[in-house]
Amino acid sequence: MEREQWGSRLGFILAAVGSAIGLGNIWRFPYIVYENGGGAFLIPYLFAMLTAGIPFMILEFALGHRFRGSAPRTLASINSKLQMLGWVQVFIAFTIAVYYAVIVAWAFSYLGFSFNLSWGDAPQTFFFEKYLNFAGSPTDLGSVQFKILIPLAIAWSITFITTFTGIKFGIEAANKILMPLLFLLVIIFIIKVLTLDGAIDGINYLFTPDFSKILDPKVWTAAYGQIFFTLSVGFAIMITYSSYLPQKTDISNNAFMTVFINCGFSMLAGLMIFGVLGYMAQASGKPITEVVSSGVGLAFITLPAAINEMPAPQFFGVAFFLTLVFAGISSHISISEACISAFMDKTGWQRKAVSALYCGLGFILSINFTTNGGLALLDVIDHFVNNIGILTTCLIELLFLGWFFNLESIRQYVNKISDFAIGSWWTICIRFVTITILSISIITNIITIVTKGYGGYSTLSINIFGWGICISIIVLALILTNVTCPKGYIPTGENRKSI
Ligand code: ALA
Repeated sequence: MEREQWGSRLGFILAAVGSAIGLGNIWRFPYIVYENGGGAFLIPYLFAMLTAGIPFMILEFALGHRFRGSAPRTLASINSKLQMLGWVQVFIAFTIAVYYAVIVAWAFSYLGFSFNLSWGDAPQTFFFEKYLNFAGSPTDLGSVQFKILIPLAIAWSITFITTFTGIKFGIEAANKILMPLLFLLVIIFIIKVLTLDGAIDGINYLFTPDFSKILDPKVWTAAYGQIFFTLSVGFAIMITYSSYLPQKTDISNNAFMTVFINCGFSMLAGLMIFGVLGYMAQASGKPITEVVSSGVGLAFITLPAAINEMPAPQFFGVAFFLTLVFAGISSHISISEACISAFMDKTGWQRKAVSALYCGLGFILSINFTTNGGLALLDVIDHFVNNIGILTTCLIELLFLGWFFNLESIRQYVNKISDFAIGSWWTICIRFVTITILSISIITNIITIVTKGYGGYSTLSINIFGWGICISIIVLALILTNVTCPKGYIPTGENRKSI
């Protein structure tokens, strides 16, 4: 089967940017900056972007382009033992896709709520009690909440229609619409927010540096952790997207652009969120430290509370939740495509069938997160996937390619086809800097979880839904690696490519 291709370079970049820009930029980045030294955090963040983000992006673009396969197939083409690592990445992506869709579903609901500010004057009570019907434990899920099920079906349907339609007319077309709209929305939002009293104070607060924090290793691990998730590297996506690049293409410039646009968008999200928080602090007479929050709390409680106080609240509500929906859905499509592509390669089945089966199964599994305990389940799984799963697969991928493979040959390959050449800094970043910081981050994260647990959840919950999910991902990857595959899955003989 001929591999599909992007219709244009712009289409590829918008899709890669669409994957990278997601919930991680809007609700995670501003809070991480705030928590880790404000403006001073930008030093470790930019360092992580340059030493890990850009080199990793170039590496994954090069591998996908050269071997023209999903992550398991591409990694297997380098060395058959690496196929399993590819499947681990795919199952991490699948796990993320299953809960990510639920957050997009909440954003859809809140988009609807924005038109009449349904959350009223108690957004916290509304979110936990009326909307989620939350009963805080992953081991006691309770019953399905049908009001979440409907937007969830919408979120999965959009991903289904897009991936079913294919690369050029589905994913590329969707991103060509979603990305310009997303930037436009955020820019209009920021211009509007800057006219409000206190907004500038909020932004100043975000970017006022606390240089004492730079010496704290936790700040550095936070910067690296954020970079991998936000750039969608290390969990099968960018290898898959670049496998649809035409033969004649560029690698390094595309990678630089994707990373810069993504990180630039994060800065815009910082202005947007802290502008709102600054206004809210001023309006309520509280210090900003009392109104700031992250993740689910930021998007579905703090922001609605702030929107209540704003002039034209419907405008700000609709604009904010549309931003969340657009950013979330374009990332969800990419996470799903990484899985769909892997199963298509492995089974030899048509895109339409795989996409239908994948989205059907994904939707059914997502239903778990629409129950009374869904939020707690999501919280535990998300924490493990981000802090252990992605970082570990990134480390193994880099360790292998950096130390047991001729990394220099990849650099030469990139330089042969790219707009501009990359120097030996690239090799040094991968072999030394990133590997060292990743190792420290993973060890620190494991020690913290083992000694302190996470989020006050019971040991049983942590064992089943944290460690249990990690083990299940490994077992599933082992099974898929050993499933027989179509002839030519791993090219042999004269079809074998080297890099
Ligand atoms: N890169 C995507 C995000 O930041 C997954 O949400």
